[in-house]
Amino acid sequence: MAIRRIVTDNDAALYKVARHVEHIDNRINTLIDDLLETMYDANGVGLAAPQVGILRRVAVIDCGEGPVILINPEIIHTEGEQGCMEACLSFPGKNGYVVRPSRVIVRAQNRDGEVQEYDATGLFARAVLHETDHLEGRVFLELITEPPEGYTEDEEQETEKAVIE
Ligand code: NI
Repeated sequence: MAIRRIVTDNDAALYKVARHVEHIDNRINTLIDDLLETMYDANGVGLAAPQVGILRRVAVIDCGEGPVILINPEIIHTEGEQGCMEACLSFPGKNGYVVRPSRVIVRAQNRDGEVQEYDATGLFARAVLHETDHLEGRVFLELITEPPEGYTEDEEQETEKAVIE
């Protein structure tokens, strides 16, 4: 395992559509190990392959309940709405209020190539959507809106720590 360099800001890899994974081979397994190590080292809750310059449809998430590995993820259902301060390891120092669905069902392959479904809510749902956006070359900056009235700095500071993807 190795910590990889996280690409930032204007790096072209952040704005391209990542390619489908056909075979979960040694390279993909090493990529997954490295994404996990790099994410934990950076104190993030999610990291997608394009963020380390690899345009493959692979992302990892850990919202505190252990690692979730998403290979070729597909969002098959979304509902509800949640707003929260969000940040991204590829845009250090930037954050903003982003509204996303509050529940998402995602279908993805695991390391064994088995198709699994995750029914995600709250932070997990947000992370799934943030990371699958990365695989489409979309970054969270496009989604930033004004927080609603009454949304306090204290709340922002608490959530900001938790939501760095
Ligand atoms: Ni991100």
